[in-house]
Amino acid sequence: MKPICPAPDDPTRRGAEAARPRRTLADLPGPRGLPLIGNLHELHPDRWHLEFERWWRAFGDMFVVRMGRRPILVVVEGELVRDVLQRRPAVFRRIRTIEDVSREADMVGLFSADGEAWRKQRQLINPTFHARHVESFFPSIREITGRLRDLWARAADEGEARDVLGDLMRYSVDVTSSVAFGRDLNTLDRGPDALQEHLQRVFLGLNRRMLAPLPYWRYLGLPADRAYDRALVAVKRLILDLVAAARRELEGGADRPARPRTLLELMIVARDGDDPKAHLSDAEVYANVLTMLLAGEDTTANTLAWILYYLGSRPDVQARAREEADRAVGGALVPTLEQSKRLEYTSAVTHETLRLRSAAPLLYLEANHDTAVGDVAVPAGAGVVALTRAIGRKPEYFGDPESFRPERWLAGVPSTLPHEPRMALAFGSGPRICPGRSMALLECAVTVGMVLRSFTVHLADHTAPVRERMAFAMQPEGLRVRFVKRACA
Ligand code: HEM
Repeated sequence: MKPICPAPDDPTRRGAEAARPRRTLADLPGPRGLPLIGNLHELHPDRWHLEFERWWRAFGDMFVVRMGRRPILVVVEGELVRDVLQRRPAVFRRIRTIEDVSREADMVGLFSADGEAWRKQRQLINPTFHARHVESFFPSIREITGRLRDLWARAADEGEARDVLGDLMRYSVDVTSSVAFGRDLNTLDRGPDALQEHLQRVFLGLNRRMLAPLPYWRYLGLPADRAYDRALVAVKRLILDLVAAARRELEGGADRPARPRTLLELMIVARDGDDPKAHLSDAEVYANVLTMLLAGEDTTANTLAWILYYLGSRPDVQARAREEADRAVGGALVPTLEQSKRLEYTSAVTHETLRLRSAAPLLYLEANHDTAVGDVAVPAGAGVVALTRAIGRKPEYFGDPESFRPERWLAGVPSTLPHEPRMALAFGSGPRICPGRSMALLECAVTVGMVLRSFTVHLADHTAPVRERMAFAMQPEGLRVRFVKRACA
């Protein structure tokens, strides 16, 4: 594979930082909007990312939209976005409502914390995502992938078209809960578990509140919000019990595990040097277990669903990936760790899918103090939206950007088209880049390898449009897949 990771001290960044502000937000173009509400009414509840991208095509790489009276600077220039993402947590932060809503839920974890609190958590949690830990989770990931295969094999026998996103959500709930706290919910076989139902309510509630223009829930007790509060209490009790049990076990006598086996246990034992204060409290461990479930589930499930969409709509891509899987995986039904790592073309398919259908197509930030983005002065508190998916669709970074061309990611394949992997921002960039990316990529490799070995993938209805829908992550709405068993499966 061509390298993906950005260099932290990239010299081109300095150029972006060095520019002196010559313009203000008021000088920038943007949609007109209405008094008081600004452009809020133009944002479709399920497809606001498309509206932002439409405005980009109309107004260019820097423009201003208004959420109520609040101006938001939207940036689609790759170097400037990388620069903004790099200048965290000092100059920019995630938009403040994310932390406020999380604080109300007692779950300020790695995603929502900011400033020094974030720095401490990131330092302690980063090592838990080290390759050797992620690989130690592989046996449970592989076992759950085997269950997904059985489910789709039964569907193939019955000629049934599957709502693959629903299946993949349950798959990633099972994987993430098993990796996070060693509990195999097996929602793939048993259907929704009580914990999963509570989690679903919590995620929907958090999402609704983080994106709400006003904190209406502080004044109104809507039924959905009461259900959210109840679910939160149940989830908190359950996870804190798991934290206490894991702590007892880790501190226990001869029976204690030789080494931590789950993210939860890794977080409990995480220490920074000899500093007795440099560890995570129970409240922080709870917040981060919930964060992992939240951050890891929908994103991975939707990425996998989009990969199936491309395999189904591009038989040429599927044939090439299948040929590689047959070579690398041999007779196994689910690839081993070593085999998963050999799936180079499949990995290229994943990166191309992430470029075009990133689960998080935009990032919401805020300036901590007066600063500048390029030559534009940005006052403290102004919102900054980074259109990361749009950056991956710019012809100066990725030639022929609207085409699905996995081979652009293969090392040693000569091409005259521009190819700037540092502008592939599906996992973000800078100090807050997604720490779960290698785990997500491993899950994608083993799942897609399994599918290619056992089935051919067909879109159930080629004429039915598959549309992008923004929920917690960007989903393929209307995707149904028919699996046909291969002779060798
Ligand atoms: C294909 C799957 C995934 C995608 C597309 C994705 C994408 C992202 C993005 C865009 C961010 C924000 C990065 C930034 O602000 O620069 C992020 C942050 C994060 N992700 Fe992921 N993610 C995925 C899977 C996972 C998994 C599997 C986990 C953990 C089990 C995870 C845990 C996190 C956490 C904890 C953060 C917050 C990091 C911080 O603010 O320091 N993600 N992810």
